[in-house]
Amino acid sequence: MTHDVRGVIARAKGAPAELTRVLVPDPGPGEALVAIQACGVCHTDLHYREAGIGEDFPYLLGHEAAGVVEAVGEGVTGVAPGDFVVLNWRAVCGECRACRRGRPWYCFATHNASQKMTLADGTPLSPALGIGAFVDKTLVAAGQCTKVDPAAPAEVAGLLGCGVMAGLGAALNTAPVVRGDTVAVIGCGGVGDAAILGAQLAGARTIIGVDVDPRKLEWARQFGATHVINSRETDPVERIRELTGGFGADVVIEAIGRPETYEQAFYARDLAGTVVLVGVPTPRMRLDMPLLDFFGRGGALKSSWYGDCLPERDFPMLTDLYLQGRLPLDKFVTETIGLDDVEEAFAKMERGEVLRSVVKL
Ligand SMILES: NC(=O)c1ccc[n+]([C@@H]2O[C@H](COP(=O)([O-])OP(=O)(O)OC[C@H]3O[C@@H](n4cnc5c(N)ncnc54)[C@H](O)[C@@H]3O)[C@@H](O)[C@H]2O)c1
Ligand SMILES: [Zn+2]
Ligand SMILES: [Zn+2]
Repeated sequence: MTHDVRGVIARAKGAPAELTRVLVPDPGPGEALVAIQACGVCHTDLHYREAGIGEDFPYLLGHEAAGVVEAVGEGVTGVAPGDFVVLNWRAVCGECRACRRGRPWYCFATHNASQKMTLADGTPLSPALGIGAFVDKTLVAAGQCTKVDPAAPAEVAGLLGCGVMAGLGAALNTAPVVRGDTVAVIGCGGVGDAAILGAQLAGARTIIGVDVDPRKLEWARQFGATHVINSRETDPVERIRELTGGFGADVVIEAIGRPETYEQAFYARDLAGTVVLVGVPTPRMRLDMPLLDFFGRGGALKSSWYGDCLPERDFPMLTDLYLQGRLPLDKFVTETIGLDDVEEAFAKMERGEVLRSVVKL
């Protein structure tokens, strides 16, 4: 059987996101069909629409989602119809060289559904991050479904599927921030604010949020920044040093993905400190810095893929912390919107008016 549903696609480079009919096949071996309940609008969806990630148009947008499993294919044992799940875009294979060495969060062979969802005329769709979730029902690999406590609202739980997990994980898993650290976060959007929250959860002593937008700095304080810097008005490297006894922060997290802010992160860090790049650069960006400084300043320069998360370990745990009132994930939801409001949500994101617009179905 094929499911005839509504979905939001990017048809061609620069074309506005468009609501259209999407055909979704029944799950085959190893696959699951998920009825989407909520899906956040992430900056990466906008990158897809602008051909910043690839040119495999048309894309089925959306990837930060929660829903209920409707059907599973042959051989699926991990999830069953009726399960409340958060979708993940790094379903660990268990067999690649990273997995075999006991580092599954780096898995080099993550998997997706093998069957294609299509437009009504049969044109195959490229699902964003192997998910595609601005749609009534989506088809994924069963391993992309992680069960969490159904007491959590879908619009909150779904956030763990991308940006919020990436930010929390950059602080908790990649850095990792430990109790007493001084931390600076450059770029206080959804990902950066989640990194601030992660630093707070880990027991950081000083947490400095840096952004160019005063509204974002106000939000950063609400997520636990002890200090904020408007880098349009104040040199962030000098100010971070001032706020950390003249030395720089133990951990600096770059949550934008630009050479100039990466350079700030590099120099705002104490000797032997750690820089974490969680923002995603575009293919043409270059960095020109003295190699001697990489040696002379020592420490660790890391990138964070999806917050080095393990969905099976982290999604249920973070959902529980939320349900216990210890992790205010609901504060990321600026507004809930309909499937036909995605294009407008991109515009609000570009104007800096929202942390997350979340589509509710
Ligand atoms: N590593 C991962 O797995 C992963 C996962 C999700 C998203 N991301 C990436 O993280 C980045 C942030 O995503 P987001 O959803 O938070 O985006 P966002 O647009 O909500 O946030 C970016 C923030 O950076 C600020 N900013 C822009 N230029 C600046 C500058 N020069 N100096 C200081 N601040 C500046 C903006 O005001 C905004 O607050 C994106 O590159 C996104 O693709 C990475
Ligand atoms: Zn693997
Ligand atoms: Zn995302």
